[in-house]
Amino acid sequence: MGERFEADFRKAMRRLASAVTVITAAHAGRRHGMTATAVTSVSSAPPSLLACINRAAGLHDPLVASGRFCINILYADQSEIAEAFGGKLPNDERFSVGAWAASAGGLPFLREAQASIFCDLDLVTPYGTHSVVIGRISDILVAGHVAPLLYQDGRYTVGLGDGIDWVVPI
Ligand SMILES: Cc1cc2nc3c(=O)[nH]c(=O)nc-3n(C[C@H](O)[C@H](O)[C@H](O)COP(=O)(O)O)c2cc1C
Repeated sequence: MGERFEADFRKAMRRLASAVTVITAAHAGRRHGMTATAVTSVSSAPPSLLACINRAAGLHDPLVASGRFCINILYADQSEIAEAFGGKLPNDERFSVGAWAASAGGLPFLREAQASIFCDLDLVTPYGTHSVVIGRISDILVAGHVAPLLYQDGRYTVGLGDGIDWVVPI
């Protein structure tokens, strides 16, 4: 596969609009977090999600070692959080952006997320540079409004929300 193929792959992926999440984990007394768009539901029986995580990412090993993670689905006005957790800030400074709390089990979750979905790690499959991780959902927090932050064509944009109190130009 040549350069043209790689360029076309990147171009095609830029057209795949995705909701922006921050995946978090806690291990050995440290919090870890990373912005991710490669997240999708797998099944409702059992309730499960998958995420594709680069094995070189700081979050990867602590997530696998702790066996638990949380997917925080961001609101349209939370691109600053996405940028911080997307590599703009070092891991230890990321949690100063946004209002973070700890679940009873010690997992960091974003208080103002559209939803925070808590998972127990069920399966890790390496593929290329990434691991596909499947989590079985153990708990869910859902906020009132639908107003997703999306990533499309290499930039943040706003998805159609439920229209309640939300018109967020970016
Ligand atoms: C919008 C956006 C989406 C991303 N999606 C993913 C993803 O799905 N999986 C992944 O492994 N990295 C993804 N990344 C890259 C990671 O967020 C980034 O490499 C990571 O925060 C680096 O963390 P580290 O410095 O702790 O290794 C994404 C970055 C951005 C900005």
